Amino acid sequence: MPLVNMKTLLTRAKINHHGVGAFNVGNMEMVLGAIKAAEDTNTPIIIQIAESRFKHSPLYLMGPMMVAAAKKAKVDVAVHLDHGQTFDAVKEALALGFTSVMFDGSSLPYEENIAKTKEVVMMAKKYGASVESELGHVGGSEDGSQEIKALYTDPSKALDFVNQTGVDFLAVAIGNAHGVYKEKPKLAFDVLDQIASTVSIPLVLHGGSGISDDEFVKLIKHGISKVNIATASFIRLTQEAEAYLKNADKHNYFDLNLAMVKGTYLNVKHHIEVFNR
Ligand code: 13P
Ligand code: ZN
Repeated sequence: MPLVNMKTLLTRAKINHHGVGAFNVGNMEMVLGAIKAAEDTNTPIIIQIAESRFKHSPLYLMGPMMVAAAKKAKVDVAVHLDHGQTFDAVKEALALGFTSVMFDGSSLPYEENIAKTKEVVMMAKKYGASVESELGHVGGSEDGSQEIKALYTDPSKALDFVNQTGVDFLAVAIGNAHGVYKEKPKLAFDVLDQIASTVSIPLVLHGGSGISDDEFVKLIKHGISKVNIATASFIRLTQEAEAYLKNADKHNYFDLNLAMVKGTYLNVKHHIEVFNR
């Protein structure tokens, strides 16, 4: 039963200076592709789903499938709620057996973010689950529907935030953004260094899609332990499905299913290899 707590994976990653990939999933094919990539590379991963995706991929269906897939996997897999915005979503994920949750209060005023995150930490404790929170604000959105402005994490507040909330992992905003980058991201390694030198818990990078392999290696060297990848998997899955529909004379669900699994597999495998260089 290798369903594990994200804390186990990230504590190990921080000590060994490698990154753990956290891959967003939206259907069964993505779950199968991600877990197969982890098994083939013999590397632990995190599978996660964001609350904003529930309208396409409801948690009451996705959650049990993600937990079951992790339990059956041949490698350690953590199951995580990504960008929880409401206490209802947090409670539902914990009740379904997710081993960690993110509470994203990054657009709230500082004190309110602290107060709400603290409540989530209390909720998670009852389940032995761990908690990720975000300080500053990662811009953009995975489906390009929102042009949210980024707000860099203030390194002078990071330690206070971690101490007051009791979170296990901190997501940082250092020029990273969700979705497709319009121009090459300018990552503020000086800000990351300042945060990493004051905060001892594992740090998380959101908006991984579109960041170059060399920059991933550098980010991990500078203290990032978890890297979130969503858009790149959604794109690769769609490309494989498109290629199948274009190149095959006759179509059937079963081969379309395999194309979607393959698209996710290829993207996840590539990122696993980069994060463990
Ligand atoms: P991307 O969609 O940019 O890879 O971001 C993933 C993410 O941060 C999920 O929380
Ligand atoms: Zn994110």
